[in-house]
Amino acid sequence: MARDLSTDLIHHPYQPPAGFCAPQPGVFKASTVLFNNVAAMRARDWRSREGYTYGLHGTPTTMQLEERIATLEGGRHCVLVPSGLAAVALVDLALLKPGGEVLLPSNVYGPSRELARNELAQWGITHRLYDPMDPAALADAITPATQLVWLEAPGSVTMEFPDLTALARVARERGVLTALDNTWGAGLALRGFEHGIDIVMQALTKYPSGGGDVLMGSVTTADAALHERILGTHMRLGLGVGANDVEMVLRSLPTMALRYAAQDQAARQLAQWLQARPEVARVLHPALPGSPGHEHWARHCTQAAGLFSVLLQPSYTQAQVDHFVDALQLFGIGFSWAGPMSLAVPYDLRMMRGDNATLQGHLVRLCIGLEAVEDLRADLSQAFKSAVG
Ligand SMILES: Cc1ncc(COP(=O)(O)O)c(C=O)c1O
Repeated sequence: MARDLSTDLIHHPYQPPAGFCAPQPGVFKASTVLFNNVAAMRARDWRSREGYTYGLHGTPTTMQLEERIATLEGGRHCVLVPSGLAAVALVDLALLKPGGEVLLPSNVYGPSRELARNELAQWGITHRLYDPMDPAALADAITPATQLVWLEAPGSVTMEFPDLTALARVARERGVLTALDNTWGAGLALRGFEHGIDIVMQALTKYPSGGGDVLMGSVTTADAALHERILGTHMRLGLGVGANDVEMVLRSLPTMALRYAAQDQAARQLAQWLQARPEVARVLHPALPGSPGHEHWARHCTQAAGLFSVLLQPSYTQAQVDHFVDALQLFGIGFSWAGPMSLAVPYDLRMMRGDNATLQGHLVRLCIGLEAVEDLRADLSQAFKSAVG
């Protein structure tokens, strides 16, 4: 029976020949997944790596990236979510129950704390802050209600690097799960599972994307049972990611180690140069001796991210500090990091952590991109001159 052209354009007989091979993985876009017959549809398990059921639960494209991120983190299982913050939320929602408590480092990524203050509190889950630089303080903070301890290395604004191994040991000895925000270490400088951590999340928005144009997060585990818990919540919340975004991260991943190393080198050169500037009271960069937790960084890490903070002299006014940031021409003013463009953000220290009495001055966080170091140095020099003479 002759069919209408509109039907033929949907049900077309052409099948590409098998065997196509290229360096980049193929990109599969699907909400609907087709089954050969009803029996196959009924038999297929959405959890399995072999059987696809619906685009939300995985396509060959999302699974490729999940496998690569699991390798990057040194874990075994990974799920992708639409942002780094969604990865934090997924871990919280999968593991915390009413009446339970989550412990957050006092320098935690701010929105993670806001989630605890709002949604988690509303569902009967409490949170408390602990000093990440003192494993004994974590030991004291853990109670029978504690269900999860978050770790961050370093704090993403005040840059203290904790003794992760000691913190993970304290939690493990008390039977409490640990989750690390490894956005800074990115699986390159720091591998959480080697330090006894149970769950490693990362904002793929930063180094794995590298373009400043994609939002995505990952939750990686080494333990199959823990992965199952997280995967179930991931499915019920509908946290799947779009193939176009996954494609972009898959394209960037092969250059990530090169970008990370280049941004590390550039950031260290600029951090050392800034340390000697009269406008700067202190540089907070974990790889620099004298930075809070430098000795822990040296024991845990091989590299550092291109992100650090400077404390400008306390004698400057806030208006001078703002002028300095406004006067920068190559550094964009904006959140996030790890893209090609360098960025600067002034932060109010009082908003960052409750126990920052040791940090004095005006904090400006710098994310170093891929511009030439000489040009960035010249830009910082001219901005200092413009702001403070
Ligand atoms: C340390 C850290 N964790 C998590 C996130 C959240 O990532 P996203 O912006 O993809 O939600 C960020 C974002 O800036 C971050 O800096």
